[in-house]
Amino acid sequence: MKVAITGGAGFIGSNLTYYLSEERPDWKITILDALTYAGNLETIEPLLGKINFIKLDIADREAVTNIFATEKFDLVFHLAAESHVDRSILSGEPFVRTNVLGTQNLLDASRAHGVGKFVHVSTDEVYGALGPTGRFVESTPLDPTSPYAASKAASDLMALAVSKTFGFDVVVTRCTNNYGPYHFPEKFIPLFITNALEDKQLPLYGDGNQIRSWLHVKDHARALLMVAERGRKGEVYNIGGMEEAELPNRLVAEMICERLNKPKSLIKYVEDRLAHDRRYAIDYTKINRELGWKPEVHFQKGLPETVEWYVNNKAWWTRVKSGAYLEFYEKNYRNRGL
Ligand code: NAD
Ligand code: DAU
Repeated sequence: MKVAITGGAGFIGSNLTYYLSEERPDWKITILDALTYAGNLETIEPLLGKINFIKLDIADREAVTNIFATEKFDLVFHLAAESHVDRSILSGEPFVRTNVLGTQNLLDASRAHGVGKFVHVSTDEVYGALGPTGRFVESTPLDPTSPYAASKAASDLMALAVSKTFGFDVVVTRCTNNYGPYHFPEKFIPLFITNALEDKQLPLYGDGNQIRSWLHVKDHARALLMVAERGRKGEVYNIGGMEEAELPNRLVAEMICERLNKPKSLIKYVEDRLAHDRRYAIDYTKINRELGWKPEVHFQKGLPETVEWYVNNKAWWTRVKSGAYLEFYEKNYRNRGL
């Protein structure tokens, strides 16, 4: 079985690659990744030799076509994306290029060159924001509120359209917030852990009462394998965290300080994100009923383990928090008084 993982040098893609190399050792895996600011070869270095790596910008149509014509993949996990909401607020263009155009190129090349199944990895952010009650189900209308989420919604619809129009075997997954090792430190949990380790301020947006539903990245990887092997053509599957992991940002920030033995006074309330979604929560009944998946890692265990991982892998995140990272940090947080 020849398997392509786009975005495999990023957070979820690399964790998925580690998981699949253990669970399906006979699969021939190739990571396709442009190594943008969010991609890091160091993350997957221990796997090189066992898996193949090809540097590829998915928005480069000719390059995508050539690689798919040569490699003849059977299965594609598509995770490559511009993934940070704050960056999309600063500029939407790279999001349309990679998330929309890049996805279309992959769908076309996959269809033309014999791919049997295409797993399009998407997000619960396509549904927009929830009020204090209720959960997103697969039929919840799409109502994205950021350029990132809008680009993901567009790519979901293109993927589903290819399935409807041509009968191509595409499955779309929509997952809530992931956490775990190799999470890029522009995102909330790794940013707060690494800033706290450096005794820097922790910029909490707005009133800090926005709720996110946290899922350990390994649980996500397990769900993606099930969907690839048994998910039904043309279907959408929601993937989400346990109810106990639906927490306000303020509380998660405090848990991080406590775990690291740092003062909560490091938390600094700063100007809110534009159109900041108040709450996400996923109903994962469908994937549970059809494929038997449910989250297994409790946040009370997964968060301390993740904190530990950052404590033990300082060299990894120190190298990542340099160069272009600092330029973005300056742009995003300067006006917030950091
Ligand atoms: P990430 O930003 O950590 O990694 C993205 C990867 O894609 C990087 O390795 C980057 O180099 C690569 N990439 C970016 N543009 C590319 C291009 N033009 N061509 C080829 N490669 C390119 O992202 P992540 O958090 O691992 O997210 C992976 C996927 O999962 C995304 O599609 C995202 O929308 C989705 N998702 C993420 C979360 C989450 O909580 N992180 C939740 C639900 C869904
Ligand atoms: O729900 C799935 C989505 O989760 C994925 O599609 C995205 O790719 C992923 O980045 C994530 O989006 P969020 O916007 O929820 O994640 P982020 O880590 O950026 O923010 C989590 C929460 O923390 C959110 O309510 C904003 C808040 N936050 C974030 C940052 C970076 C802060 O308060 N301060 C910050 O500095």
